[in-house]
Amino acid sequence: MKKPTKRPATILVHQGQDRDPATGAATVPIYQASTYHHPGGVGQEFDYARSGNPSRQQVEDAIALLEGGVQGFAYASGMAAIGGALSLLQSGDHLIAPDDLYGGTYRYLTMILPQQGIEVSLVDQSNLTAVSSSIRPNTRALLLETPSNPLFKICDIRALVEIARTQRLLTLIDNTFMTPLLQRPLELGVDVVIHSATKFLGGHSDLLAGLATTGDPELAKRLKRFQNSLGPVLGPFDCFLLSRGIKTLKLRLEEGQNNAAELARRLERHPAVKRVIFPGLESFDQKQLHFTQAAGAGAVLSFELEDDSRVKPLLETVELPIIAPSLGGVETILTHCWSMSHAAIPADTKRKMGIGPGLLRISAGIEDLEDLWGDLERGLNAL
Ligand SMILES: Cc1ncc(COP(=O)(O)O)c(C=O)c1O
Repeated sequence: MKKPTKRPATILVHQGQDRDPATGAATVPIYQASTYHHPGGVGQEFDYARSGNPSRQQVEDAIALLEGGVQGFAYASGMAAIGGALSLLQSGDHLIAPDDLYGGTYRYLTMILPQQGIEVSLVDQSNLTAVSSSIRPNTRALLLETPSNPLFKICDIRALVEIARTQRLLTLIDNTFMTPLLQRPLELGVDVVIHSATKFLGGHSDLLAGLATTGDPELAKRLKRFQNSLGPVLGPFDCFLLSRGIKTLKLRLEEGQNNAAELARRLERHPAVKRVIFPGLESFDQKQLHFTQAAGAGAVLSFELEDDSRVKPLLETVELPIIAPSLGGVETILTHCWSMSHAAIPADTKRKMGIGPGLLRISAGIEDLEDLWGDLERGLNAL
């Protein structure tokens, strides 16, 4: 893998390999092959596609270069990347994870890990004392998600890494919301960074993908062993789409972030809106902490309506956003967290977490801001 001698915007475009070494073609081709010829019976760099292929190498190198890791891993989905990273734990271990996190991760932690004999505590990680007092003799790792989804709780990455180091715990982080352009956790001491590349890295709502990387060669070996043994890898065509999406991340993210900031300000002034949660707002209580570890607010915000009964008319009125459980696309995506992204979490638990039926999440796309606001305002005014 090449050393990251270039700045992020350049790495995004050129990645690990910016042309096909075999032909000079301007993009790395889709190597649609399951196996590779062994000349004279001798295996070469690529021998079988579960272990690796040049299309996958392209995105695996890209995430390692972008995050500053020693090796990258591409998976069939963000959840497969999370499962891959959690393969670093074993039966009898205990994991501390955030109490406000993506619904699919919640399902994996509460339904799958216990079957594997791994205990999980869901803790408010913005409270360092709560994290420290949840550590048990068998605790092996902290899983972080900051900002959390969908309530944007910020945890102090540096302080949690410090706690983890003194207790010899691994730190894993889901960096999907921020992308490596806004937050680079390996530089803050985190061991493994995970992305749902389905979101901003892919950027076009046309593929499902996961990425992970680490700065530790020993952990990289273990991640590779699991990825190669189980095989939840990203297929060659999806690697091509992901590589193409990554090239324009900076432009898309900057535009989406500007749109999100302005939508957040306008939503805050609208009488139908009870509260807006967005790290870029002056009213965001953890703004200072967020900006000590991230270079931007991101392009996603949440807002809660004064009156839950206005959710339905709003969803029936808006025309521009896709109404769906996802984020990070070029198009604006509006999510009703209660019934979509966090449907996997029982109603009582959601309420305890602070996710009510009136909570909505917007992933701002790159459309014209006035068109977006006009559409949203019509939805907010609908009864
Ligand atoms: C923060 C976060 N992490 C992980 C995932 C899971 O990713 P995927 O849907 O690609 O499996 C999601 C999906 O919405 C997410 O929002």
